[in-house]
Amino acid sequence: MSVHRSAPEGLSSAALAAQAHDVPARDGGLSRLCHLRAPGTSVVLELPSDGLPVVLHWGPGLGELTGDDLEAMFRGVQPHTANSRIYTQTSVSVLPQHSTGWLGRPGLAGSRSGRAWSVQLDQVRHEVSPSGTDGNDRDGAPAVGGGQPVEVRSVAIDEASQLEVVTELQLHPSGVVRLRASVRNLGDPYVVTALEPALPVPPEADELLDMAGRHTLERMPQRRPFAVGAWVRESRGGRPGHDSGTLLCAGRPGFAFRSGRVWGVHLAYSGNQVLYAERTFNGWRLLRAGELLMPGEVVLEHGESYTTPWLTASWGEGLDALSHRFHHLLRSRPQHPRHPRPVLLNTWEAVYFDHDLQRLYELADRAAAVGVERFVLDDGWFRGRRGEHAGLGDWYVDEDVYPDGLHPLVERVRSLGMEFGLWFEPEMVNLDSDLAREHPEWLFDAGHGPGMPSRNQHELDLGQPEAYAYVLERVSALVEEYRIDYVKWDHNRPLIDAGHQPHGEPGLHRHTEALYRMLAELRRRHPALEIESCCGGGGRIDMGILEHTDRVWASDCNDPHDRQTIQRWTSLLLPPEVVGAHIGPPVSHTTARAHGLTYRAGTAMWGHLGIEWDITEASPTELQELAAWVRLHREHRDLLHTGTVVRADLPEPALRVEGVVDEDRQRALYAVTAVDRPLTWPPGRVPLPGLDPERRYHVRPQPPGDDHPGVGYPGKPPWMTHGVILPGRVLDEVGIEAPPLHPDQLVLIRVEGVGEPPG
Ligand code: DGJ
Repeated sequence: MSVHRSAPEGLSSAALAAQAHDVPARDGGLSRLCHLRAPGTSVVLELPSDGLPVVLHWGPGLGELTGDDLEAMFRGVQPHTANSRIYTQTSVSVLPQHSTGWLGRPGLAGSRSGRAWSVQLDQVRHEVSPSGTDGNDRDGAPAVGGGQPVEVRSVAIDEASQLEVVTELQLHPSGVVRLRASVRNLGDPYVVTALEPALPVPPEADELLDMAGRHTLERMPQRRPFAVGAWVRESRGGRPGHDSGTLLCAGRPGFAFRSGRVWGVHLAYSGNQVLYAERTFNGWRLLRAGELLMPGEVVLEHGESYTTPWLTASWGEGLDALSHRFHHLLRSRPQHPRHPRPVLLNTWEAVYFDHDLQRLYELADRAAAVGVERFVLDDGWFRGRRGEHAGLGDWYVDEDVYPDGLHPLVERVRSLGMEFGLWFEPEMVNLDSDLAREHPEWLFDAGHGPGMPSRNQHELDLGQPEAYAYVLERVSALVEEYRIDYVKWDHNRPLIDAGHQPHGEPGLHRHTEALYRMLAELRRRHPALEIESCCGGGGRIDMGILEHTDRVWASDCNDPHDRQTIQRWTSLLLPPEVVGAHIGPPVSHTTARAHGLTYRAGTAMWGHLGIEWDITEASPTELQELAAWVRLHREHRDLLHTGTVVRADLPEPALRVEGVVDEDRQRALYAVTAVDRPLTWPPGRVPLPGLDPERRYHVRPQPPGDDHPGVGYPGKPPWMTHGVILPGRVLDEVGIEAPPLHPDQLVLIRVEGVGEPPG
């Protein structure tokens, strides 16, 4: 084995370190032990001379460890081998292999016409880069900002199978681990069936959490014991889906937001995928994920390779800490949206398909008057699109509805000082469209025609070069012509029977790659353009799509009661500034439930704020209140969109406390919310977590988020009238009395540091 170390160039965060030490390994070989460090996080790897990396520890920072410490640790964690390494499996790599005695699901599955199906790696080269930097381990405080990751790249060859396998494991300054694998074919054509890297978690991780849901009720959490066997979450509709597992966590039983050590993995990918937690009879617990490949979807010719999406993993003492690391990783990307997120108005729930210029003018006038900064024209503007049955694919402005194109509307919007956004659904086609009539060969077809319709629409195959070129040209030309600031990119059906014409082979992998390419090309051509990933609401929320877009639409449900839960669990992965949250009409079109403005706005406040309501019908009082909410959001969005998201653990399930604390812990905003009727009355104390324990804070209700009919009946707790000054430690450990809230009411609380911060 050779270990190559590159120079520590390009390491902008001095808080990362990689340290390596050689030890004699099992079977007389040589292993290098490698300690990767980020603030609060350590990853200790064994890099064997004959195998891929083995994770010995992934979790809390271990501080400085000498070479002797690493060696002792290695010996200290070795299990007995008895008389069979198959039964005891003393080590399992980040790509577990059948040939090493792994009896679970193999990390690489594939074959060359029935041969080369079991991989045994014989030459392995590990490269650690950069190395030798000085670590600074501040346990519990993840790094903020950019910086290069430390990376271990391992290249292995199976000569007999004529395959090269590469794994890349990175530890980012945020403490997030990213892992991916690739396979390169060195022989005759090789079919990849599955390539799924894995990260182990310790036995204390005995409870699983992931998400479930459906259209308009996405990201509902579900828990279960981490039992022997596999808990498998598959997405086969060409996108993660509304029921996407999103984040698969394993932790100490009962792990909560503020306590209980927990690990979680997410696949940064927007197509078919599988997430699974696997526990074996001999004690291994793995969190794994990969692209879910259809038969024959990836066939490698000689010299070709296939690389998995990034398995993106975090850990924390509680879900909040795990979530902070993901947020920090995303916020440290160069393309992360940094300028203030413009408050937008989206026309969908205001006009649906009924596009009337005068009405849209009126909507735009009112939007500008309440402080909206971006006007987004939703579905219904293009040729033939008078309803759901026709028009998708014909990306030309409808001459009947807009005889002068969109120019008059765009000019009106701009003259009011707002940006202009436009809706597209570029991957979809109605059979009643010129596109489908002229180019049926551009549609997916697995050999039975265009297949089953869903919302009257079918699927365009972006893997068809001509279809790709047409869509790219149309979207780009419209962006150019109207100087569009924002594209809402929708996707309203699962992709099934996605066969690439003329032969019908599976085309989703190629389609997803083409989608990423097109989004990247649009941003290259139009650097100021922002793109939203919408998928009938939250059907395509993942870090893969977020590499190419600026926000996601969390759900088609604007009912604040459901949004409380949808946003809470979406925010586990994504920070609020990339999650769209809109103030809907008084009666939700999804649930028919009615809510006052305080609850609707006080819930939407916590994301990238928008309005999706026919405000031409709003009363003068409602408009005034709406303007106050928009002002409040604009006043606090620097905090809301850069601060640390905190969620309290409360024994009372009817109540929630969530907040955002700024980086200096000088300022915070919280919401105390009743999603149901508390069992006890008065409801008791609630903590305000995340503040500096040593600092005093002024705590008071934040208007207009303090005023519902009934709040204060039969009286308010005194702090709501007079405010209170308390140390952060008291606010977290003792709390304050919860406001008396009816179901679906909330109170916003403003918290500001008093005096100088402690030195
Ligand atoms: C589904 C989206 O999620 C909605 O916001 C809206 O854009 C409709 N599609 C339009 O068809």
